[in-house]
Amino acid sequence: MSFRYPGTSRWALSGVSFHVGPGETLALVGVGGAGKSTVAKLQLRFDDPDQGTVRLDGIDLRNLFLSDVRDSVAVVLQETLVFHGTVRDNIAYGRPGATEAEIVAAARAADAHEFVQLLPEGYDTMVGQRGRTLSGGQRRRLAIARTMIRDAPVLLLGEPTTGLDAQSGLRIMDPPRRLMTGRTTIVISHNLLTVRDATRIVVLDRGRVVESGTHDDPLVRGGTYGWLHRLNAVTGPAQAGPSFPRTVPS
Ligand SMILES: Nc1ncnc2c1ncn2[C@@H]1O[C@H](COP(=O)(O)OP(=O)(O)OP(=O)(O)O)[C@@H](O)[C@H]1O
Ligand SMILES: [Mg+2]
Repeated sequence: MSFRYPGTSRWALSGVSFHVGPGETLALVGVGGAGKSTVAKLQLRFDDPDQGTVRLDGIDLRNLFLSDVRDSVAVVLQETLVFHGTVRDNIAYGRPGATEAEIVAAARAADAHEFVQLLPEGYDTMVGQRGRTLSGGQRRRLAIARTMIRDAPVLLLGEPTTGLDAQSGLRIMDPPRRLMTGRTTIVISHNLLTVRDATRIVVLDRGRVVESGTHDDPLVRGGTYGWLHRLNAVTGPAQAGPSFPRTVPS
C-alpha cells in the first residue's frame, strides 16, 4: 500500500507490504518519521491507503463495518493510555459491564493490581487529566489491563519510549507478553528488546520497507542489527533496554 497525508506531496508510506499470521508477532521497527504510526492509523481505518489495501482476515477494511474493525483491533499506544476517571473506569472501559472479578483479574495480569491497591482509594481513585497522578509505567499497566479485558484478536502495541520508570525498564515487557499470547500482534518499536520477541520483523525507513523477514534469517538479522547500530547513533544503545532519560543530541 501507499499513502500520502492529504495536502502533502511526500508519500508517508510507499509500496509497503507485509502480512501477519494468526497469533504471530510482527515488529514494525523504524526511526522517527519512518511511518510506523501511519501504519497503525490505516490499520484502524482512520484513513484509507491511496494505493493497495489493508486487509483483516483477507477482507479489505473498506468492505467491513468500521465498528467491527475497531472492535477487532486493540491499541496500546503512548498517546492514549489513560483518561480522566477512576482506575476502575479506565480498566472497565475495555468491556462495559465487566464484573469486579474480571477487572481485578485483568489488573493482575497487567501487573497493575499491586500498585492500585496502594492508591488512596484503590480502584475508586480518580486518575487526573491525562492520568497525571500516575507514573508512565503505571499508566501503561492500566492501559494493558483495559486491553486485556477487551480481548480483541488483533493488537497494536507501541513500546514504552517515554514516561517509563527506569526501575521497571526491563520488567515492563512482561505484561505485554501476557497480552500478546494468542493474539495477532504488531509491535511498533525503536527497540531491540521488542524485536527479539517478534516472529517477524519489518524495518521501515522514510515510508519504505528496507528489511523484512524472520528473526532467524541471518541475512535479515545482519541487516537489522546493522540498521539498529545506525539507529543507536540516534537513540543510544538499544541492548541496554529502553534508554531513559534520553539525552538531547548536541
Ligand atoms: N497528520 C499528518 N499530516 C501530514 N503529515 C504527517 C501527519 N502525520 C505524520 N505525517 C508524516 O508522515 C510521515 C510518517 O510519520 P509517522 O507518524 O507515521 O512516523 P513514525 O514512524 O510513527 O514516527 P515516530 O517514531 O516519531 O512516532 C512523516 O514524514 C510525518 O511527518
Ligand atoms: Mg509514531
